[in-house]
Amino acid sequence: MIGAEALEHSARVRDHIAAKIHAAGGWLSFEQFMDLALYAPGLGYYSGGAQKLGPSGDFTTAPEVSRLFGACVALQCAEISRVLNTASILEIGAGSGRLAADILCRLELLGQLPQRYSILEISADLRERQREYLQKRLPHLLERVHWLDRPPEQPFEGIIVANEVLDALPVARFRWHASTSEEMGVACADGRFHWAARQASGAMTQICRELAATGGGWEDGYVSEYCPRLPAWIAAVTQALRSGAVLWFDYGLPRAQYYLPERHDGTLVCHFRHRLSEDPFANLGLQDISAWVDFTRVAEASREAGFDLAGFTTQAHFLAGLKIDQEMRLAAGNDENRFARLANQARQLMMPGEMGERFKAMAWLRELDMPLSGFALLDLRHSL
Ligand SMILES: C[S@@+](CC[C@H](N)C(=O)[O-])C[C@H]1O[C@@H](n2cnc3c(N)ncnc32)[C@H](O)[C@@H]1O
Repeated sequence: MIGAEALEHSARVRDHIAAKIHAAGGWLSFEQFMDLALYAPGLGYYSGGAQKLGPSGDFTTAPEVSRLFGACVALQCAEISRVLNTASILEIGAGSGRLAADILCRLELLGQLPQRYSILEISADLRERQREYLQKRLPHLLERVHWLDRPPEQPFEGIIVANEVLDALPVARFRWHASTSEEMGVACADGRFHWAARQASGAMTQICRELAATGGGWEDGYVSEYCPRLPAWIAAVTQALRSGAVLWFDYGLPRAQYYLPERHDGTLVCHFRHRLSEDPFANLGLQDISAWVDFTRVAEASREAGFDLAGFTTQAHFLAGLKIDQEMRLAAGNDENRFARLANQARQLMMPGEMGERFKAMAWLRELDMPLSGFALLDLRHSL
């Protein structure tokens, strides 16, 4: 059951987007639609006030599954910090604030707290929720945490961390034809949204040709996505990092697997109260909309931004490389029930059918050269 308040909110989001479509002459690109549905101030899914993450929200992420994830990320950060002179951490898109708390907690135990832990968060609502969460869990560390609503400008040394943020960047959707590709957009009739195709621009047609050449053997009408803003966004959020590392965690694939002929309807996925759907027009403003990450595109953008690829592996191998089993022992102490609970959580993070293989970890270094333990067990860089 969706409550009356939520339904009213959803109707406001629908009216807002419908007005934008009308003002634009009856058509918006899917990228613009997704941007509005997720981020329209005060209305979009991430900007509105509903609980989004965790058991009572719409979807679960690795930090929501277990503190073990943040503990392992912290160990990777600690290893990097030991090589840098001073290291700050910048987390992008911090959700509920759990990952920040788990990283800080583990670094405190190691005696390696960063002087500054910044959070770049687009959603004012989530910034507030993160502050409240950290205030409750780690009041004594709150003075180290700073919130940003735009990428930092002051140069810094340190580590940038982002879990499941790349998949939340709006994507363009296309339909492939050997002659001319189409851009899939959104139109509105009788208050309902529907797909509407237009001839793709020259730039989009060129990108489609390149992607088709990688994927190989697309049939006429093949539909998929790519993220046009990714290169500029990566350059912007990493621009102030003078030296250090960027760690991306997300679900996705190298390009050759992403654009396989059998994945002919793209990778859009929507989450509403832990139910999956492929309909981005349902539950407007109440459901998450995301797309899988093309990690080859991330690689191209990161190289362009001046980084060296230091590692690409599965989430399971990242966690194993940082000895998640020892973290379980440490967190459980002599409490065998707690150990069993943690073991269950670790399975969810690591099993191939759960988050272990679909989710990847990727590391980039700038003005720094060092091996990273999280990437030592399985090297998938050749697949990019
Ligand atoms: C899927 S949630 C992941 C939350 C958290 N990292 C986790 O793993 O639980 C995406 C997060 O990224 C934030 N976000 C999306 N686009 C962003 C952007 N361009 N800049 C900063 N934060 C962004 C959202 O508001 C949200 O906090």
